[in-house]
Order: sequence, then structure tokens, then C-alpha cells
Amino acid sequence: MLFPRKKGGTEMSFRVLGTGSYVPPKVVTNDDLSQFLDTSDAWITQRVGVKERRFSVNETAAEMAAKAAKAALENSSVAPEEIDLILLATISGESQVPSTACVTQKLLGMSCMALEVSAACSAFDFALETAAGYFARGKVKKALVIGTERMSRILDWTDRGTAVIFGDGAGAVVLEAGENYIDSVFHVEGNEEILGFALPVGNSPYYERGQERKPLVYMDGQATFKFAVNAIVKDCDALVQRNGLTYADIAYIVPHQANMRIIDFAGRKLKVPMEKFCVNIDKYGNTSSASIPIALDELNRAGKLKRGDYLLLPAFGGGLASTCCLLKW
Ligand code: UT7
Repeated sequence: MLFPRKKGGTEMSFRVLGTGSYVPPKVVTNDDLSQFLDTSDAWITQRVGVKERRFSVNETAAEMAAKAAKAALENSSVAPEEIDLILLATISGESQVPSTACVTQKLLGMSCMALEVSAACSAFDFALETAAGYFARGKVKKALVIGTERMSRILDWTDRGTAVIFGDGAGAVVLEAGENYIDSVFHVEGNEEILGFALPVGNSPYYERGQERKPLVYMDGQATFKFAVNAIVKDCDALVQRNGLTYADIAYIVPHQANMRIIDFAGRKLKVPMEKFCVNIDKYGNTSSASIPIALDELNRAGKLKRGDYLLLPAFGGGLASTCCLLKW
């Protein structure tokens, strides 16, 4: 757990100038998945809340990231050459080296520092926190923070427990130095059993046999579900309480979109009405680190955000990790 920020909001961090997102055009419905998986529209709708998701046919995680970033730059009226830093969250990029952050930087024609943040579904919040550090040190004036995922590349398409949940897409925000990143909480408890995605073991002639694990996403759904509901409640409560706020002061909660029932349970425990939650899981499924910036972009473009609004961004997932950021719009 990180210590609370200094009281009074005097520490330099950032404010959000604009948002952007991109989802690939290919729409895949629950009925489409039922063609080759033992599942149904009724089960997925009721247990997860997803009706359809977008899947990349040929676009890479970096290409989707660049499209979301361009939309965010346009929305912010910021030129690419004004950006000093790209922080990119992903677990599903096409290569480790160069990182998806570096490939995206090239696609955007930029020459600034670019760095990848790996923290699965919570990674967008980790990237915001990392950005806040650069701003606090006065190292950057403007930054791009992006979440992008081509989950279709790393899913186990024979596992109905995970294949029906996820989707592909990217979201981005443009930040400039300011004082609107109010507070955050981060909780990490290392656990490989509940949720993971292993990389290939390699072909060293010196390795003992038997270390190979399927390089695809696996998840204990119920254990993750319990972790997620508790995480949202604990993390949102911590930020609201220690900043002297009540939920009446929060304009919107923009949660990681993993399961409609998780959001619903958390809302009931927090006694916060569903209207305050920004939800789009029905259209896009769980896009991992991209889900919060995509939802934030939808809110922004719908004209629902006013300067000064407080937003909570709770996220959770592989690590295991849970996080929440408190922003002033
Ligand atoms: O973003 C990262 C964090 N991820 C999450 O937060 C996900 C958290 N977990 C979940 O969202 C839910 O646990 C799932 C959606 C993954 C699963 O839903 P569930 O209600 O927890 O189902 P379950 O795993 O308890 O399975 C209930 C039944 C089982 O059948 P039996 O054993 O009762 O006969 C499963 O085999 O549902 C079956 N099932 C399915 N049936 C139809 C599991 N997946 C499917 C499916 N279609 N796709």
C-alpha cells in the first residue's frame, strides 16, 4: 500500500487534457462464440453481462494503441511533438523487444521516451501513478498514457470460462502538469495460481524438462470474482474516506469492466447507485488494461464530465493486484 499523498493537493501531478479510444471493427456476438464453444447467449448475458465484443482481425496491440492515442491528441488539441513521455499498459503486445510502447511511439512518429507498464487488468492505474512520478519530478510537461490489448492473441480458445469474457481495444489519455491526480491506492499479492498468462519457457539445452506451461490466459473465475468485489469496495472506500469525501461528491466510478455482476455487487456494498458507474462491458467485454480508458473516453465524449468532477477508477486482476485512483476532472 502506498502512503496517501500530501494533504491540500499541492503536490504537482497532472490533469487530463483529453481522451481517445479505438476498438477494431469486427463485432463478435455471444451466438457467434456458441458456434464453436459449449456456451450460450443466455449464460454469458446472465453470468457476465457481455452481449458482444470486438476482436482484431489483423491489427496489432500497437496499431490499436496508436489509433487511440491519435484520437486523444485530437481531443486535447495537443500536437504529437509536444508529448514528452508515453506510458503504455499491455500484456498482449506482439513482442517483448521492442516493447509495444516503442512500436507505438514509432507509429505515432514521435521521438519521446516510451515505457511499458505490465500489471494486467490494473495496469492503466499503475501507468497513471508512474506518470504522476514523472510530473512530480518536473521531468515532463505532457504525457500520453495508453492501455491497449489484443486479448484474442493470448486467450485459450478452447476454454469457455475465459474465451467468452475478453475483447480487444485501446484507450488513451493526454496529461499535462497539474494538481488533479488527487490520491491512489495499490495492493499487490503475488499469486500465480488464480490468474495468469505464462510466456514460453525457451529452448535452453540445459533446462530440465517439465517447466513448460500453456502460454495462454488461465483463470480461477470464482476466486478472482471474490477478490474483485472486495477490492473495489475496499479501495474506493479508502480513497473516499481519507480524502474527506462522501460518495455524493463522486460524479462517476469508472471501474475495470470484468463482469457486470462484480460491478453490481460492489455498487450494492458501497450503497452507490448504478447510474454513478460507467459501464460498457455489454459492448466490448473485458479489454483488460484498456477497459478504464475506453470507458473514460465514452464518458468524456458523451459530454458527461464537468471540470472539477471527482472520479474513482477502481481496477483489479492478475498479479493479483487491485488499485484505485481518485481524479479531479
Ligand atoms: O479482468 C481480470 C479479472 N477477471 C475477473 O474479474 C473475472 C472474475 N470471474 C468471473 O467473472 C466469473 O467467475 C466467470 C464469468 C469467469 C464465471 O462465472 P461463474 O458464475 O463464476 O461460473 P463458474 O465458474 O462458477 O461456473 C458455473 C458453471 C459451471 O458448470 P457446472 O460445473 O456448474 O456444471 C461452468 O462449467 O458454469 C459453467 N460455465 C459455463 N457455461 C456456459 C463456465 N463458463 C461457461 C460458459 N458458458 N462460457
